[in-house]
Amino acid sequence: MNDRVIITVDGASGTGKTTLSKLLAEKIGFQHLNSGALYRSVAYLCLQEGLDLSDQDAILQMLSRHSIKLALGADGLPVTLVDGNPVDELIRTPEVSEATSKISVLKLVRDYLVPHQRDAFPGCGMVAEGRDMGTVMFPDAQLKFFITVDQDTRIARRLAQLLEKEPNASPERVNELKSQMKIEVADRDSRDSQREIAPLKQAQDALVIDNSAQTLTQTLENMYDAASKRGLVKN
Ligand code: C5P
Repeated sequence: MNDRVIITVDGASGTGKTTLSKLLAEKIGFQHLNSGALYRSVAYLCLQEGLDLSDQDAILQMLSRHSIKLALGADGLPVTLVDGNPVDELIRTPEVSEATSKISVLKLVRDYLVPHQRDAFPGCGMVAEGRDMGTVMFPDAQLKFFITVDQDTRIARRLAQLLEKEPNASPERVNELKSQMKIEVADRDSRDSQREIAPLKQAQDALVIDNSAQTLTQTLENMYDAASKRGLVKN
């Protein structure tokens, strides 16, 4: 059993689970564990060093030379540090996303990141977000959510995120990005849910939250109410 309260939030990419997890953590005074940021950091280092993404020995050696950490910034919010440097911007490019879903199938990478997740933010209540939080990492979590959203909505959300960085993109560029997103979302979904180790899967005891039709605020309220009903929210 966990010695602290853990709420898990699992789901595919583009379901809004990061925003929901952050907001829920903030609302109930918990820390937010973004496990995807850890996998992304490994992929980022592999790309920096030009490694073959299936070469387990090379990846293991590389990991022994670097450090990946989750810390709290001056504002009290989590920051991802690679060798002591903040990388949250650098690890959210399409290239890193693609590489991440490839290295996250590797057992050595998943094993390496276990303590990073289980020992994150010691003593604090945690909203742990990812693909296998409720199934593998925190099977005894006091509350588990599984977020779903239809695929078109997810593609549109990913596109909107990318266009924030390219506000003046031409209509041709928007179409190009949209096609890329369709392929990216479908590829990552199938890799994440069909891999042998810790695939994206709903925990049997998870509450399923459909975030397609409702506003984020409504979904957040539903999650908050569920936490409150389980007595996990301190007044
Ligand atoms: O959540 P995010 O989209 O940032 O995750 C990036 C990738 O990291 C996912 O597509 C998945 O391959 C991997 N991941 C994972 N297990 C987790 C979190 C993320 O395999 N718990």
